[in-house]
Amino acid sequence: MDELDKNKLPHHIAIILDGNGRWAKKKLLPRNLGHRKGAFNIRDIANVCNQLGISYLTVFCFSTENWKRPKKEVEFIMKAPIQYLNKYRKKIYNSSIRIKIIGRRDRLPQDLLQVLQDLEENTQSHGGLTLTLCIDYGSYDEIVTAVKEIVTEVQKGQLSVDEINEDTITSHLFTKEYPPLDLLIRTSGEYRISNFLLWQLAYAELYFTDTLWPDFDEKELMKALLDYQKRNRRFGGINHEDHQN
Ligand code: IPE
Ligand code: MG
Repeated sequence: MDELDKNKLPHHIAIILDGNGRWAKKKLLPRNLGHRKGAFNIRDIANVCNQLGISYLTVFCFSTENWKRPKKEVEFIMKAPIQYLNKYRKKIYNSSIRIKIIGRRDRLPQDLLQVLQDLEENTQSHGGLTLTLCIDYGSYDEIVTAVKEIVTEVQKGQLSVDEINEDTITSHLFTKEYPPLDLLIRTSGEYRISNFLLWQLAYAELYFTDTLWPDFDEKELMKALLDYQKRNRRFGGINHEDHQN
């Protein structure tokens, strides 16, 4: 396997974690066990990213559309992390990972919201990887929220319509403090964006793998990073050597 170039790592990786259900089905297990394994995998992959010195990892845990799933499955997804996070609270507080939550907060069960907010508060000064959990997140919702904020500022006279530019939008998204997205990974062989980070993806490199999320381990991450390092990112320009005098 090629060597990873530590100087060419992405600063910001996002993952659409997919395939928990199929992983469980393959093993003749209930879907919930797939979600459980998937949750532990977020921890493992976050630790690897942190060790590599990657600054931002943003993972899509639950979308604004996932509420359509059977009530029992949604209940499990909303309840299981509470137990887990309470159990590992000390470990998380003692690590260097900073945890952030983005998405709608008004529809989450109160007890989950409380645990998540505690995590955010108690890790906010951590200097390692920023791990963002997107929960009840949808890109349409994020953009609608940003537009409402911008319009309100215009109505209050704090901003003029002529001043609105790309940075105005970027700086009103949930990810406003984050560096641009470099790499998006989607597991489980689906080739969709599914309402995730639509604005932020403009110049991200995309990486799709058939591996199901619970099987996406350190080796799989290395494959994705090596693939990323082979990409030629031109951001709409051309290569330096192709410039003619
Ligand atoms: C991803 O796994 C987890 C969530 C979206 C909550 P899925 O639950 O979508 O797994 P599949 O697609 O059914 O295999
Ligand atoms: Mg799925």
